[in-house]
Amino acid sequence: MAIKVLSIFGTRPEAIKMCPVVKELNKRKNINSVVCLTGQHREMLRQVMDVFKLKEDYNLDIMKPNQTLSMITASILEKMDDIISKEKPGLILVHGDTSTAFVAALAAFYHQIPIGHVEAGLRTYNLKSPYPEEFNRQAIDVMTEFYFAPTEKAKDTLLNEGKSENRVFVTGNTVIDALSTTVTDSYFNEHIEWAKDSRLILLTAHRRENIGEPMENIFKAVVKLTETFEDVKFIYPIHLNPRVREIADKYLKSNDKIRLIEPLDVFDFHNFMKRSYLIMTDSGEIQEEAPSLGKPVLVLRDTTERPEGINAGTLKLVGTDAVAIFNEAKLLLENENEYKKMSEAKNPYGDGTASCKIADIIETYFKE
Ligand code: UD1
Ligand code: UDP
Repeated sequence: MAIKVLSIFGTRPEAIKMCPVVKELNKRKNINSVVCLTGQHREMLRQVMDVFKLKEDYNLDIMKPNQTLSMITASILEKMDDIISKEKPGLILVHGDTSTAFVAALAAFYHQIPIGHVEAGLRTYNLKSPYPEEFNRQAIDVMTEFYFAPTEKAKDTLLNEGKSENRVFVTGNTVIDALSTTVTDSYFNEHIEWAKDSRLILLTAHRRENIGEPMENIFKAVVKLTETFEDVKFIYPIHLNPRVREIADKYLKSNDKIRLIEPLDVFDFHNFMKRSYLIMTDSGEIQEEAPSLGKPVLVLRDTTERPEGINAGTLKLVGTDAVAIFNEAKLLLENENEYKKMSEAKNPYGDGTASCKIADIIETYFKE
């Protein structure tokens, strides 16, 4: 009999990394794949589902403007009950470290359904950074039965925490599976045309712990860079969070070297990355994509759970001090050797077969 696998995700980054998994599960005859979106994100989630041409079976549609962590947690937990009771899956898959992932895992745990954690084993061991994601991922791994670790390093972390070795599988990161379907040589976009005679810096910033003064510092550094370097242009696809938009509008709106644009779909975003000179971001997932594309990234955070990209030389942890951000960007804009050192394409995250490996492991285990 086929094993029923319920995949639950709800934000843009989870969807980008879970759609390749769902596509692979759909191909397997021993697996009955069901997808539940929590709808923690709305438009930004739909963009991903559309690019991957996938349809969900359920959408809890919980998103509210300016939602708090408690609102997200309470509404997902309550709505998950009926779906899990109705579907009675043999396995629930969650991804990463969002509130959706944590609450879906909690709901699975309450129903005593085994949990598979895709992208398990990332840690900063600092509960304040990233917040609340570090708590989420640690808590999920207390409840998980199948750990799909992206790298050997993540596996070692899990083993050091005492997880049993026969439940930890190194699969690579499914983001590489996604990247292999999006990046293309023949790509045209009006914003890229606008920046074509300049060095393009792609900017994203959205983290909860950066909202407020840290984000203001980031934007001050960006403005100073536009004033200092004639040949630099910025494109910033702004997250739909109104609190982020307010700060971005205040600092960046009237600058003709900065384009504030709506969130790009993942196909466009990956192709923008490929055509950038440099990326400045507080995102997690972009830190995994950039090494494959050979694009230097200044990470606008105090910690990273992705040391692989630092070791590969592609990422530099810069924090959120305006002077430090300006100086690190200046270095890469002025010093060719420094730029070259960071811009060699290296991919520490596997060979694009992570989804296939995850589906194989599930099929094999549940056949037994
Ligand atoms: C969430 C995740 C974070 C992840 C990020 C990816 C948690 C606690 N945080 O943070 O780990 O890095 O997603 O982007 O799980 N909004 C829209 N439309 C959308 C999406 C968001 O309008 O499609 C607005 C809403 O007003 C919403 C707000 O953005 O209330 C914040 O969304 P939320 O999911 O709470 O936080 P993120 O910062 O996106
Ligand atoms: N991304 C996208 N459109 C955008 C900005 C980012 O598709 O306008 C993609 C990006 O390539 C990466 C993911 O979204 O795969 C990162 O999402 P985000 O920064 O929201 O979340 P995080 O990675 O910080 O959890």
